[in-house]
This record gives sequence, C-alpha cells and structure tokens, in this order.
Amino acid sequence: MDTGDLLSSRAPAPNTNQKKIGELKSELYMKTYNFMGYDAFTPGEIDLAFGLDHLVKMSKQANFPFLAANLMSAKTRNPLFKSHTIKEFQGVKIGLFGLISPRFPAGGSLEESKEYYLADPVEVAQKTIAELKKKHCRVIVVLAHMETHEQEMLAKNIPSIQFILSGHITRLQLEPIESNDTQIFMAGSRGENLGQVDFFIEEKTLYSRYDLVPLTAKFADHPKVQEWLNQYKIDLQKLLQTPPPTTPRKSPAITRRQVAIPVTPLFMGEKYCLSCHPQQHQSWMNTSHARAYQTLSPKNKSSDPTCLACHTTGLGIVRNPKAFFENVQCEACHGPAEGHPDMRRSLSQIGEDQCRKCHNAGNSPNFHYPTYLQKIRHQK
Ligand code: HEC
Ligand code: HEC
Ligand code: HEC
Ligand code: HEC
Repeated sequence: MDTGDLLSSRAPAPNTNQKKIGELKSELYMKTYNFMGYDAFTPGEIDLAFGLDHLVKMSKQANFPFLAANLMSAKTRNPLFKSHTIKEFQGVKIGLFGLISPRFPAGGSLEESKEYYLADPVEVAQKTIAELKKKHCRVIVVLAHMETHEQEMLAKNIPSIQFILSGHITRLQLEPIESNDTQIFMAGSRGENLGQVDFFIEEKTLYSRYDLVPLTAKFADHPKVQEWLNQYKIDLQKLLQTPPPTTPRKSPAITRRQVAIPVTPLFMGEKYCLSCHPQQHQSWMNTSHARAYQTLSPKNKSSDPTCLACHTTGLGIVRNPKAFFENVQCEACHGPAEGHPDMRRSLSQIGEDQCRKCHNAGNSPNFHYPTYLQKIRHQK
C-alpha cells in the first residue's frame, strides 16, 4: 500500500515541464506498483496538485484501487474514487479505506477546487466503517493522508479502527503510536523503509507485530524495474533538455502597482541576488552549499536526476536552458524570488523543514538543526 505524495514536492508551475515530468514519473510508479502487486493507493495533496485529470489518468493505469472516501465531487457530492476495498485472508475480512486531510488547500488552481472538496474525515470514517462492518470486516485499516494530530483524533474518536497507515508525515517511528485499540504507523518518507504489520486473531483478540524494513542496497533492484528506471532517466533527461513552453510572462515589476503575483514564482539564480546582497553572497560562497554541484562530478553524477534534486536549485522550475541552477543556492533556502523585492513576498521564512527536504536521514544522518544552522548563518 502507498499513502500518497508520490509526485513532485510542488505543484507544476505554468511555463515549465513540471507537469510532463510528473506524468513520466507517475507512469513509472504505476507500472512498478502493478508489477509489485500493490493493493491500494491513497493520494495526497501533492498528487492532487497535479490536477484531477492527471490523477484519474493515473488511476486508470493502476491495477489496484485509489482509495479516498472523503474526496468528493463538487457536482455529485459522491466520492470521486473508490472509498474502500475488502481483502480476505484465511476467512478474515480486512476493510481498507482512504482519507485525506481537509486542511490541505484544494488543488493547484481555483478551477480545480471547484471540482472537488474534502469532507469531514471523522464523519466519513464512521459511515464507511458501518458499511464495512455490515460486510463482516473484522479488521479496519485506514490509509490516512493527514497531519499527526488529525490521525490521533481519528483514533481517539473511532476505536474500531485497528490500524492507521500514515501518509503525509515524513516521521519515522520505530514503534507504533498507540491510542486505545488503534495503532498508528509512521514509516518515514521517500520509500526508504517498508512498514510491515503481521497480525493474527485468536478468539476475540487481535495480536500484531510491527517491523520497519530499511530498503537498503541489500535488496537488489529487479532487472525489469531497473530497466524501466533506466528508460525513465533517459526520457527525463530529454525532457529536462527541452526548453519549457514560452508563453510570454509579465516581466518583473517596475512599480508596485503594476505587479501581478505569479501563481508559482520562478527561481532567479544567485547572480541576481549578488547585486543587492553582496555580504550574504560572500558568506554563502564560504559554505559547501556553493560547491554542492561540483561534488557530483568526480562521481560522474552531474546529470543524474536523482542527485540533482538536492545538489542543485530549482530543478525544472527555472527559466534556464539547463533546467536548474548549479549548487545549493540562496533560493534553495529562501524560496523562489521572482518578483522580489517589489512584491514584498517574504523570503525569510526558513525553518528546519526547509533543510530536511535535502538533509534527510539517508543523506545527512548527523543533521542537527541548531548546529547546522550555525554553520551556514550569514556572517555580518
Ligand atoms: C534589486 C535588488 C535586490 C535583489 C536583486 C535581491 N534583493 Fe533581496 N532585498 C532587497 C531589498 C531592498 C530588501 C529589503 C526589502 C524589504 O524589507 O521589503 C531585500 C530583502 C531580502 C531579504 C530579507 C527580507 C525578506 O524578504 O524576507 C531576503 C531573505 C532577501 N532579500 C533575499 C534575496 C535573495 C535570495 C535574492 C536573490 C534570489 C535577492 N534577495 C535579490 C533587494 C534585492
Ligand atoms: C537543496 C538542498 C539543500 C537544502 C535546502 C539545504 N542543504 Fe545543506 N547541504 C546540501 C548539500 C547537497 C550539502 C553537501 C554539499 C557538498 O559538500 O557537496 C549540504 C551541506 C550542508 C552543510 C555542511 C555540512 C558539513 O559539515 O560539511 C551544512 C552545515 C548545511 N548543509 C546546513 C543546512 C541548513 C541549516 C539548511 C537549512 C536552513 C540547509 N543546509 C539546507 C543540500 C541542502
Ligand atoms: C535528498 C537529498 C540528496 C540527494 C538525493 C543526494 N544528496 Fe548528496 N548530499 C545531500 C546532503 C544534505 C549532503 C550533506 C550531508 C551532511 O554533510 O550532513 C550530501 C553530501 C554529499 C556528498 C559529500 C560531500 C562532501 O564532500 O562532503 C557527496 C559526495 C554526495 N552528497 C553525492 C551525492 C550523489 C552522487 C547523489 C546521487 C546518487 C546524491 N548525493 C544525492 C543531499 C542529497
Ligand atoms: C542554507 C540556507 C541558506 C542559503 C543557501 C542562503 N541563506 Fe540567506 N538566510 C538563511 C537564514 C537561515 C537566514 C536568517 C538569518 C539567520 O538566522 O542568520 C538568512 C537571512 C538572509 C537575509 C536577511 C539578512 C540577514 O543577513 O540575516 C538575506 C538578505 C539573505 N539571507 C540573502 C541570501 C543570499 C543572497 C543568499 C545566496 C547568495 C542566501 N541568503 C543563501 C539561510 C540561507
């Protein structure tokens, strides 16, 4: 099972190849998941941001159901995808259903949000469970693409849920979080670990055991999947080298009055910042972030998309023939600066989350925010 946020970490920007990259990626995922025999997928807000059309297309490529009990069509007020599915093992019926947090902004565009809405998860869960019980399900599993406190709320309000599989949360919990009779599992992010739950039922009692299996190099890639992945990389390279469609954009503003706020601002590159912030630029030059791209060349990985994501800036969301800026630049921390400084969009909302996108457990095991922050602070 997969609990969502498969695609890129941001909504596709207009005038870029992001959407095409997303399509390429979801094709690879669906093909691989079919091959591996997945049973269910619950999309997250990141997948939704690619648009409902895209998600429907994806679901048609899948041999397993997309479960989203509270993702409702604005028109029919019914779920857009399947709400639940039932699996049976040795006479025990297991009811699975998916929920998405209504706190996430609907979709990437206004038009999108008119197409669907996210209904109250607790209400929908109660209704769905009643239906599953009617069909004699003994075990109830929720694929919950939600914030931690919402998952805990769900467990507290509905004790008949045995297992909650967390989506959205990138936390890695070695032990399940227990609430009444519900166990919540958090298996980290980026497919680095497989969460495995074994359970058996004796008389009226359900016993379970939870394991996290780190998906290290110990598990060799299947040759077929490796072949698909290689083809994906070739196709991706081609896409990255294709300049994005160039419909004219409004040039950065001259006066505040004329400024139109772009939906997704583009990355400008460190040379742009240099002219007005020479001091911060100099201090950045003294950090290894300014050399993160060169780091890849001795390893022959300068164009490997799996490395570029963290060793470059703005991958796929820049107006730059190379489709990225080399190194971990200003905007990797400060965010895309198109329109700055005229638009008064703050570029100083930097927190630990920002760093953790790259400094994750796999690539930066010693990451400790205060210590690391101290090392990259701009000297005055
Ligand atoms: C044309 C000059 C100019 C350029 C180019 C420029 N800045 Fe600024 N920047 C300013 C000015 C002026 C301010 C103070 C504006 C304010 O307080 O509203 C500022 C403020 C900031 C701040 C602190 C206030 C905030 O917005 O939160 C950050 C961070 C920042 N700039 C980052 C950058 C980065 C990163 C770049 C390059 C992508 C960049 N700037 C390019 C002029 C510039
Ligand atoms: C876009 C990805 C990315 C982001 C965002 C990012 N980093 Fe990094 N960081 C890297 C990479 C890659 C390196 C390794 C650079 C190299 O040597 O090639 C690195 C190296 C570092 C180092 C040097 C480690 C050492 O001891 O040599 C520090 C410190 C650091 N980062 C702190 C931070 C902090 C703090 C943040 C958030 C405010 C942050 N980084 C955000 C990718 C990132
Ligand atoms: C998820 C983000 C991420 C990805 C993907 C990634 N890296 Fe890194 N890499 C980092 C960070 C962060 C550091 C700095 C770690 C630290 O010092 O804590 C780093 C450090 C390194 C370093 C050590 C730099 C030095 O000299 O100190 C090398 C080499 C490196 N990465 C190569 C690669 C290669 C090759 C790939 C692709 C196979 C890759 N990285 C993919 C985030 C990433
Ligand atoms: C690794 C993350 C990171 C990178 C890369 C980075 N900054 Fe910053 N920047 C910060 C943080 C964090 C602050 C907040 C101030 C602090 O905590 O010291 C900051 C603050 C600023 C400010 C506000 C004034 C100040 O000095 O506090 C400006 C302007 C700025 N940065 C510009 C830049 C420019 C220009 C670049 C690229 C040349 C850049 N930054 C690269 C993390 C980063």
